[in-house]
Amino acid sequence: MNVLVVHGPNLDLLGTREPEIYGSETLADIDARIARVAEALKITVRTVQLNSEGDMIDEIHRAAASVDGIVINPAAFSHYAYALRDAIAAVGKPTVEVHLTNIYGREAFRAQSVTAGVCRGTIAGFGAESYCLALRALADLLRR
Ligand code: DQA
Repeated sequence: MNVLVVHGPNLDLLGTREPEIYGSETLADIDARIARVAEALKITVRTVQLNSEGDMIDEIHRAAASVDGIVINPAAFSHYAYALRDAIAAVGKPTVEVHLTNIYGREAFRAQSVTAGVCRGTIAGFGAESYCLALRALADLLRR
């Protein structure tokens, strides 16, 4: 079972980016956690971080041929990136949207996700654990 994890814009700055909101874990720390969960679930995971919407779309298009599912944190693109939404819908792979923070408890503009509707589900608000929960949910879904 092959899963692609896509981290969106500004997540490369985790650790120093608004730590009072996003915590002190770096993206490398989160990827290490993801690798541990993947090993336990006996699935193959590749993680990638991209800062532009076009790069995220290209990555999703390319991955479609080789992955069984996708975990994605579209970051701020969640709130307005219709082309990214269309890419997720177009490739038709089961996708779980992830957010570190509870986007429903923050600024009003974050409470809407235009990408969530084409995903199988969303996990938000558990910090790095959101990714682990998403991987478990996706593995479960794919094994059904
Ligand atoms: C985020 C929430 C978004 O609103 C924000 O733009 C991000 C991170 C999260 O993981 O909590 O960059 O997706």
